[in-house]
Amino acid sequence: MQHPSPRPRPAAAPTRRGAAAALALALWCGAAACPAQTAPLRAPDIHYDPTPPNVVAAMMRLAEVRAGDVVYDLGCGDGRTVIAALQAGASRAVCVDIDPQRIRESRANAAAAGVADRIRFVEADLFTTDFGDATVIIVFLWPDLNLKLRPRLWREARPGTRVISYVHDMGDWRPHRTQRVTGAHGERNLYLWVIGAPAPG
Ligand SMILES: C[S@@+](CC[C@H](N)C(=O)[O-])C[C@H]1O[C@@H](n2cnc3c(N)ncnc32)[C@H](O)[C@@H]1O
Repeated sequence: MQHPSPRPRPAAAPTRRGAAAALALALWCGAAACPAQTAPLRAPDIHYDPTPPNVVAAMMRLAEVRAGDVVYDLGCGDGRTVIAALQAGASRAVCVDIDPQRIRESRANAAAAGVADRIRFVEADLFTTDFGDATVIIVFLWPDLNLKLRPRLWREARPGTRVISYVHDMGDWRPHRTQRVTGAHGERNLYLWVIGAPAPG
């Protein structure tokens, strides 16, 4: 199934001068004093396309989000899924996005919803971000990005962690549940996998 929107052009290779400048900035400023980043350190692997609100609600039900959960969205956009997770009863959430604009929006939306103090905002590449304390991981990415992430999910997510993907599957990793959802992207799939659980018959 195709993603509803076109993919961004491949990221340009970072230049050595750009990398040196980023390193110099990071060394120069302490975390608190550091000026807000205005452009991603590298181009996102997929552009922003929000999950429709009714599908976000379906994600929470499919993952059975509850007290004690630590919910990650790897590529969290405007923070809507992690905010919904806290509103559904999760204890904490982590919002990871490589685009500083998305992180700014997420912070503002979380503050407006009164849940910002329970979300950790991480402006970083999801492929190098630790998610070892997650109990629920949400992605809305692209087929090859799901496949690139899959080995890390198997290796680093704790047994019992629920993984939710909107639209795209994980290749031959059979989902524990698939649910059809209809929203702004038309009729699509929501997938649930449970780390360490036997594949369904
Ligand atoms: C299709 S949007 C999904 C947004 C959100 N998860 C939702 O469901 O509404 C994909 C998001 O992934 C982010 N992204 C793309 N490549 C990334 C990477 N390598 N690391 C972290 N975030 C990334 C984009 O900036 C964008 O916000």
